[in-house]
Amino acid sequence: METVVEIIDENNIDERAKSVIKKAGDIIKNGGIVAFPTETVYGLGGDGLNPKSSKKIYEAKGRPSDNPLIVHVADMESIKKIVKEIPDAAYKLAEKYWPGPLTMIMNKSDAVPYETTGGLDTVAIRMPSNKIAAELIRCSGGYIAAPSANLSGRPSPTQAKYCIEDLDGRVDMIIDGGAVGIGLESTIIDLTSGTPMILRPGYITKENLADILGSVDVDKTILDATSKVAPKAPGMKYRHYAPKGDLTIVEGESSAVCDYINAELLKAKEEGKKCGVIATEETKALYNADVTKIAGRRDDEEEIARNLFTLLREFDDEDVDIMFSESFNDTGIGQAIMNRLLKAAGHKVVRV
Ligand code: TXA
Ligand code: MG
Repeated sequence: METVVEIIDENNIDERAKSVIKKAGDIIKNGGIVAFPTETVYGLGGDGLNPKSSKKIYEAKGRPSDNPLIVHVADMESIKKIVKEIPDAAYKLAEKYWPGPLTMIMNKSDAVPYETTGGLDTVAIRMPSNKIAAELIRCSGGYIAAPSANLSGRPSPTQAKYCIEDLDGRVDMIIDGGAVGIGLESTIIDLTSGTPMILRPGYITKENLADILGSVDVDKTILDATSKVAPKAPGMKYRHYAPKGDLTIVEGESSAVCDYINAELLKAKEEGKKCGVIATEETKALYNADVTKIAGRRDDEEEIARNLFTLLREFDDEDVDIMFSESFNDTGIGQAIMNRLLKAAGHKVVRV
């Protein structure tokens, strides 16, 4: 299949941009699939109410079909058709956080095919704030099922060039709307049983959600490698975000972490391996790696979140064989950062 790439500017949706989005909407209405920017990561969109489109998405990504897709909408009114009822909690959260990087799970109606929900009776719903995404949803019939626009297992794309790298020839169109602002996928909250539960941490933190809902649980499997229980979001059980090289997280007091990593780098270099480090602004000069990437200032979690997937991809671009990362706080947005980093490392952590 030939993949058309179109560049448009979210901050200047002129006549040409509108016609590109309209064309993309028509592709989706006709059962095709289109990669597009959102504020979190790029998504790979198809018609969420068309079972054939969902199948196409799974095929293009090489994704297991028991892993449900998020349905993206552009307004509250649209949700009524795809759920049994809208819980009160959803109205409260929507008021504060939609459009934005929050996904809510509700009981689905018959309008949503099981192909989209991976066989579940619930549906994950998000209203993105990115203007290109919102316009595309409106032009495509109102319900875009979209996972992140990467090949299954790879880091989610923060720029269109990574969609092209993974999906060129596998999708009908890629809309290049520039680099995303947030860089990690949306927070997922399940509103279908008892106390609302976070199934995937993200930019909207547990504290943010608890402020509105009172109490909020967190799926225990999110940061725990030893848990034998399956995560409630089926996708969270898969190894994910993995760079091609071997990544280890090193935890401990800063100078001990640095000493340990430098000793490991020496060993790896003797074995002829190309080595990388994920450092912070504060520690970047301390490592003797072939490639040192700066996640950001240690206290700037938004910056670290924005950079993480990009730098994992860059290690691949530079053919790095072995990588070490400093560890980050696991509170606030840090919970999402550590969740993704742990998955990228296959939960390989050394404490020094
Ligand atoms: O920010 C985002 O959420 C991005 C952009 C494109 O919107 N999308 C995204 O989709 O990250 P994806 O498919 O890569 O991740 C969706 C996650 C998976 O872990 C999946 O298992 C979970 O959501 N999920 C979807 N529907 C669910 C449901 N009904 N119950 C539990 N988990 C669900
Ligand atoms: Mg994904």
